[in-house]
Amino acid sequence: MISELKTKVGSEVTVSVKVETIRNQKHMVFLIGSDASGLLQMIVFRKSHASLADELQHLHTGSYVKVTGTVVEASQSKTDGLELHISGVQIASAAEPMPIDGESAIEKRFDLRVVDLKSEAGQRMLRTRSEFLRYSREFFYSSGFTELNSPKLMGSASESGSEVFKVEYFEQSAYLAQSPQFYKQMAIATGVDKVFEIGPIFRAEKSYSARHLTEFTGLDVEVSWAESVQEIMDVEEQMLQYAFTKMGFGPYKVLRISLAEAKEMLSKATGHTIGPKADLRDEDERMLYELTGVELIFVYDYPIEKRPFYHQYCVERGVTHSFDLIFKGIEITTGALREHRYDVLCKQAVDKKVGLESIGHYLDNFKYGCPPHGGFGLGVERVVQKLLDLASVKEASFAPRDPERLTP
Ligand code: 4AD
Ligand code: MG
Repeated sequence: MISELKTKVGSEVTVSVKVETIRNQKHMVFLIGSDASGLLQMIVFRKSHASLADELQHLHTGSYVKVTGTVVEASQSKTDGLELHISGVQIASAAEPMPIDGESAIEKRFDLRVVDLKSEAGQRMLRTRSEFLRYSREFFYSSGFTELNSPKLMGSASESGSEVFKVEYFEQSAYLAQSPQFYKQMAIATGVDKVFEIGPIFRAEKSYSARHLTEFTGLDVEVSWAESVQEIMDVEEQMLQYAFTKMGFGPYKVLRISLAEAKEMLSKATGHTIGPKADLRDEDERMLYELTGVELIFVYDYPIEKRPFYHQYCVERGVTHSFDLIFKGIEITTGALREHRYDVLCKQAVDKKVGLESIGHYLDNFKYGCPPHGGFGLGVERVVQKLLDLASVKEASFAPRDPERLTP
């Protein structure tokens, strides 16, 4: 590795590198190579190695080569005061000139995502995703969670039917899971105390916004014996602060406010009142961040009309025990306490015009005993987008999927 060359001054070595830059000069060809450990300046002299220099000078950035040469101390070298005087080269992969760069149109970049992601920004994004997943997993494992892998092929549409992809499944139809909601609750009902899943989520939303993908990575959590929605927020807050701090971003400022308080704050700032039944729009979420300067804003107490039948209701106040989390001005999470009492759940389903026969398997979770519980779902790409201040959630996906994109 390049980082080990300091101890090899004067000896002949072979390094496997990616070509970063290449410069042809009169007496030499000059290249910078990289491996996972660092950068190395390398030189081939025309006088002693004419054919080698000819071979090298036609290489483009992004080629992969195995280079043999002598390690030399060179005070003018920006690569750790070292350079390699090349005596032999094996070309493993000769790259064509890169057809796009960071300034190219976004759709062009996504068409050639492999080239797009070769950039420093691309590599940073992939590393950030990986670290976020790593440290959230680390938090869950050290807090007694069990990791789940639930099926993504479903016999019926999960949650609501509207945003679901239908696929051929032998002689019948199947649906791609829009959420592991049902299964994480099923895990709780089997006796798993705390559960999490990190996996793909499919949403057939014909939305061309900077916040929507048709396939994204969901981080889903459910915990037993949660008896207030504040406890669920505690779990998420601890998990995020742990991961963000480990990653060198956090800890961030946190605020918990009711939806009514959030609306009041917005009304005061804009002069427009937001009705009690209205949702927060994207621009409202953005403004909450601007007004407060707080990165993590939990908004709780959403009206029953706006939330699904399976949330636990607070009937006296007309709200469900649920929340959204707004991170740097964008919703990254919806969470709630679930209704685990069989009879209450059936009544809530019927009131919301959900046919009990259509949710038979879901009801089985509660029929045979299930502890009180709650949880949340988080969109990983939105978190990564905001951590890195990327323009679109699609930039935080390895290979984004939207209504018009199924490749590469
Ligand atoms: O808010 P959502 O729809 O909530 C649920 O799926 C619930 N079952 C979760 C729960 O446990 N109560 O989705 C959760 C999160 C959103 O807050 C958002 O971050 C992300 O998933 N998300 C998307 N990300 C990218 N593209 C999309 N189309 C997304 N839809 C939701
Ligand atoms: Mg939501």
